[in-house]
Amino acid sequence: MVKFLMNDSSPYFVGFEEDDYAEEKDINNPDFFPYLNMPYDVPFVPTPEVVVRRMLQLANVRRGEHVYDLGCGDGRIVIMAAREFGAQAACIEIRKDLYEQTLRRVKDLGLEDRVRVIYGNFFEEDLSDADVVTMYLLTSVNERIKPKLERELKPGVRVVSHDFEMPGWKPLIVEDLYEEWRSHKVYLYKIPGLEIPIPVGELKNIIKNVKLDEEHMKVLELIDGNRSIEEISNKTQLTMRAVREIISDLIKQGLISEVKVIK
Ligand SMILES: C[S@@+](CC[C@H](N)C(=O)[O-])C[C@H]1O[C@@H](n2cnc3c(N)ncnc32)[C@H](O)[C@@H]1O
Repeated sequence: MVKFLMNDSSPYFVGFEEDDYAEEKDINNPDFFPYLNMPYDVPFVPTPEVVVRRMLQLANVRRGEHVYDLGCGDGRIVIMAAREFGAQAACIEIRKDLYEQTLRRVKDLGLEDRVRVIYGNFFEEDLSDADVVTMYLLTSVNERIKPKLERELKPGVRVVSHDFEMPGWKPLIVEDLYEEWRSHKVYLYKIPGLEIPIPVGELKNIIKNVKLDEEHMKVLELIDGNRSIEEISNKTQLTMRAVREIISDLIKQGLISEVKVIK
């Protein structure tokens, strides 16, 4: 059973292991949140930087990909995603003070064009543009956000969760990390499904009659009505986002009729 640990000095001090000074609370107990007197789904507990870096590495965040962190805290995940991994990052924070703190840090670091800080509730924001979703929530909150992620995220999107698993999903990787005073778990998931671009006609004829740049041509040559966007991305070393953008150009040019999505 997942236990939450806290002490009396701060309503937001939360640990996840036995501690001499900590009081133990069962998060599955409905009285838990009233006890904390906390209007939010999850309190602010920052992910240590080494764990943040490992989460982003395991998710294989690549330049230009869109990383969404559910609950910014002090913004450390989106800031590292933008600075060290070249991502376009966004985070959603419900607490005004933390939203403002993250916004200030982002401005001080000159990252406004690469990090979007949203003041709001992650249950209500559109996540469909994400390539990677990071979270440090609670198993019970993961369970509640699961249908939204399943509905909105595209096949192949990586979801990486610190310490709390997504009930019912099969992780690709579960890694234990040790940092200063406690151990951490990182769960990596991938949204299942396939997106298959369908060419308008016989590929040989299409290719003969068009003039495209090298990347568009590389992608077009791999489209056969069976290969998925993920396979094309692996073969070309382009991100899935980049492949999708090229395919949307090819649709505009009338070379691809549709993208079949099989979830
Ligand atoms: C455990 S902290 C993690 C912060 C950061 N992601 C990290 O890993 O360092 C969870 C954060 O989610 C925020 N939060 C809780 N419920 C939320 C909701 N419904 N919408 C947006 N943010 C929320 C909290 O205020 C807190 O900052």
